[in-house]
Amino acid sequence: RRAAASAKATKGILLIGPSGAGKTAFLTTAERKSIAQTHTSTAPLTIRATLPSPHVPASAAFRAPGDPSFERARSFNLTDTPGHGKLRRFATSKLNDTLGLCGIIFVVDAAYISEDPGLVETSEYLHDTLLALQKRAASSSKSGREAKELPVLIAANKLDLFTALPPHLAKLQLEKAISRVRRSRAKGLKNSGATLSEGDDGGADEESEWLGEWGEGEFEFTQLEEVGVTVSVAGGNLVGGEKVDVDAWWEWVAERL
Ligand code: GTP
Ligand code: MG
Repeated sequence: RRAAASAKATKGILLIGPSGAGKTAFLTTAERKSIAQTHTSTAPLTIRATLPSPHVPASAAFRAPGDPSFERARSFNLTDTPGHGKLRRFATSKLNDTLGLCGIIFVVDAAYISEDPGLVETSEYLHDTLLALQKRAASSSKSGREAKELPVLIAANKLDLFTALPPHLAKLQLEKAISRVRRSRAKGLKNSGATLSEGDDGGADEESEWLGEWGEGEFEFTQLEEVGVTVSVAGGNLVGGEKVDVDAWWEWVAERL
């Protein structure tokens, strides 16, 4: 009975990531199936989107297209957020209220992350996004609830560009860069002395600001599975190239619907 009730609520997918990565281009593709010119976004936008054929929503795998429950299952809310550094509060507030969300797509320009400043900009934002999800899980477990799993897709976009990193390299590159981000953040915390006040559980605080597995090792996305965050990486391109190809992203969305 409860399953039936929750199945009725419209599921949501959140688009997040740095400016220029292709979030609005993806929303536009989802909406009209052909790309119009996009402009840098200044406000979030939610549309009702439909999972395109031939992708099949996981919750209606045994239904046929046209069946009302199949049609209901493939319909979802898609929310675009501005990526500009000064407009991140919109995305942050969506991360703080994840009710109804069944997945997060972090869109990355796979050419831009091949070197700095694109790499550091992207990995800082990804680090902060994943840390917000880790904290969300920690605060639920503190209050005795189990946080709902929230999977993240890193959508390596712009693969039509010859400078773009293929998805498996994009993943390694981002893991390495996030290792650097978390080290420098930890150092910053120490230097600020914020966690060293007496009687305070300073050490624990430092640990709660640390993304993934505590220790000397390098960061890997799999370290977040412990807190219910499964990170996948899939490549695609929204414009350019021979044709638009974001099937791998749709397949990931289909598994969540
Ligand atoms: P903000 O709104 O500033 O956060 O950026 P955004 O992530 O919404 O980026 P947007 O979708 O506006 O795309 C930025 C630019 O990248 C646009 O000029 C797009 O046409 C271009 N773009 C998007 N996807 C691709 C792609 O797959 N390949 C290439 N070559 N260009 C792309
Ligand atoms: Mg945009």
